[in-house]
Amino acid sequence: MTTRVFSGARPTGRQHIGNYAGAIQNYVKLQAEYDCIYCIADVHALTTLEDTSKLPENIYELALDWLAAGIDPEKSIFFVQSHVPEVLELHTYLSTVTPLSWLLRVPTFKEKVKIQPHNVNYGLVGYPVLMTADIILYKAEVVPVGEDQLPHLELTREIVRRFNSVFSPTFPEPEAKLTTFPLIVGLDGKEKMSKQLGNDIEIALSPEETIARVMTATTDPARRYRNDPGHPEVCNIYRLHHYFNPGQTNTIAEQCHTAKIGCVECKRLLAEKINAMLALFRERRAVLATKPKYVADVLTEGAERARVIARKTLGEVKLKMKLI
Ligand code: TRP
Ligand code: SF4
Repeated sequence: MTTRVFSGARPTGRQHIGNYAGAIQNYVKLQAEYDCIYCIADVHALTTLEDTSKLPENIYELALDWLAAGIDPEKSIFFVQSHVPEVLELHTYLSTVTPLSWLLRVPTFKEKVKIQPHNVNYGLVGYPVLMTADIILYKAEVVPVGEDQLPHLELTREIVRRFNSVFSPTFPEPEAKLTTFPLIVGLDGKEKMSKQLGNDIEIALSPEETIARVMTATTDPARRYRNDPGHPEVCNIYRLHHYFNPGQTNTIAEQCHTAKIGCVECKRLLAEKINAMLALFRERRAVLATKPKYVADVLTEGAERARVIARKTLGEVKLKMKLI
């Protein structure tokens, strides 16, 4: 049997070029080698949402992004988490073998307590248990994630070890596979690109909107006038050129140092490269956006396929736990 990959993302809003260059491209590539299952984690999204009115739209937009990027429903199982309710049942069983102390020390939980002190809900505590259920319901062995998810994966492994030792070996210990991509900096150059920080470039923007967005970026603060020599090493536009325009970085550095190129021109060049890289994606996305029924069918069919595997695992778990 081919090694199984599982990954998911919360539908929290529009994806940006950092997500595209990192996670999404990686998911697409893995399809060639592995048996992949990709999930839109709507139940996880509920843990941080007080207003759920945008959830359906966000799920649909994320589905469009992933399908347009090349997640292939012929190759992979692609579905929405809540369409496979078996995961919630497994989550409850797993919660009984997970010490509360393990969950309270998870760094993301502590962060969430700080960010939303008025909404420290039970679901936040169980977040990594639900992630574990996501992964092991399909006995996945490889989990492509960003660095921020590593503590969750560590906990998943601990829960698996505990389950296997209490009830006999049942699940493989899944391994995190770090998405290998350069850190995509935000337009402010200070942080990583993030929707929450408002320093991102959404992938679904039009080419014109992309240019306008890139123009808002900060550059080398020492370059106040067009003729000031620049310092590309401190400029985030330059860092973005590394990813989107790798063939021209040396030329740009030289032209920036000698003030042969101005920041406006340099940004325009970057925006054009981003637009070129995303052209095919955007075209496919626009076509998919005219076929909402197709997108819905893909997700329905994905959930059906996922449920076949899920029911089997759940039967095994219940047997081991003496529930049947
Ligand atoms: N928690 C992940 C994130 O916020 C999303 C996710 C949900 C996930 N279930 C998963 C990732 C299972 C990997 C495996 O990015
Ligand atoms: Fe940055 Fe380009 Fe301006 Fe140099 S010319 S400071 S690399 S935007």
